[in-house]
Amino acid sequence: MVAFVEHLKYLGSGPIIKVELGKTVSNMKKLIVANWKMNLTKEKVNDFIVQLSEKHKNNPFVFEKSELVICAPYIYLTQLSALQKDNAFSIGAQDCSAHQQGAFTGEISAQMIKDAGCSFVIAGHSERRQYHCEDNALVKKKAISAFENKLRTIICVGETQEQRDKNIEQEVVERQIRKSLPENAHAGNVIIAYEPVWAIGTGKTPAPSDVEKMHNLIRSILTEHYDNGFDIAILYGGSMKPDNAAELLSINNVNGGLIGGASLEAEKFFAIAQKA
Ligand code: PGA
Repeated sequence: MVAFVEHLKYLGSGPIIKVELGKTVSNMKKLIVANWKMNLTKEKVNDFIVQLSEKHKNNPFVFEKSELVICAPYIYLTQLSALQKDNAFSIGAQDCSAHQQGAFTGEISAQMIKDAGCSFVIAGHSERRQYHCEDNALVKKKAISAFENKLRTIICVGETQEQRDKNIEQEVVERQIRKSLPENAHAGNVIIAYEPVWAIGTGKTPAPSDVEKMHNLIRSILTEHYDNGFDIAILYGGSMKPDNAAELLSINNVNGGLIGGASLEAEKFFAIAQKA
C-alpha cells in the first residue's frame, strides 16, 4: 500500500494547489532515453546494438530497473527496428510533423514513425525550438499527431541561461508545459523532459537542489492539470553522464534521463542505465 501525504504548494503568484506525495512513478522503471541527434552511421548503429544486446544478455537485472529507449535519426529507425530482437530497447524518433500526410516536402509524419517500429517520439527539443523556430503551439500540434498514432511523446521544456539569470525559469517552464501539452495528455501518452538549455552539451548541470525544485514544480503542474499527472514520467536532460547519473537519477521526481552526448557509445549509455 502506498502512503499518501498531502501538502500545499504555491505556484508563483497563482493559486495554491494541492499535491499528493507518496503515489509517484518511483516504483516504475527509470526511463533512460538516448537522443542520438544527428550522429552515427549505419555501421556504428549496428555496432551499438550488438554491444547493447551483449550487455542485455549478461546483465538482465539492469533491464528490470530501467527501460531503454533509443531516439535515432529517421533514416536509421527501420534498421533499429530490424535489430530489435530481444526487447533490450524501444525505439523513438527525434521529431515528427504536425501534419498527418500530404504535400509537405521533407516532413515525416507520426504515422510513418509508428510504421517504422517506433513507440516514442520527442517533440519540442530545445534545438528544434532554437534552430527551427518551433514554438509551443507547434509542439502541441506535433504532440496531438503523435498521440493519434499511439506514440508516447517526450515533450522537452527548459530555460535558457539568460532566463535563469533573470530568475524566471519556473515561469518559463510552466508556460512551456501549459502551452505545449495537449489537453488530453496523460501518463500513458506523454513524458516530460526537463532540459535546461544551458546544460545541454556543455558539461554543466544544475545543482541537485535546483533539479529537485524544478521537477517538484513540474509534478505539481502535471498533477493539477492532467489526468494521472502523478504518474507522468519526468526526465532530466542536460550533460547526464555515467559519473553524475546516480546522483541525478536519485532526485525526487526524476523518473529517468534524456541523454545526448553520452548516449552515442553503448558502454556509456549502458553505464547510465546501470546507475538507475
Ligand atoms: P546532452 O544532450 O546529454 O549532450 O547534454 C541532452 C539532450 O539534448 O537531449
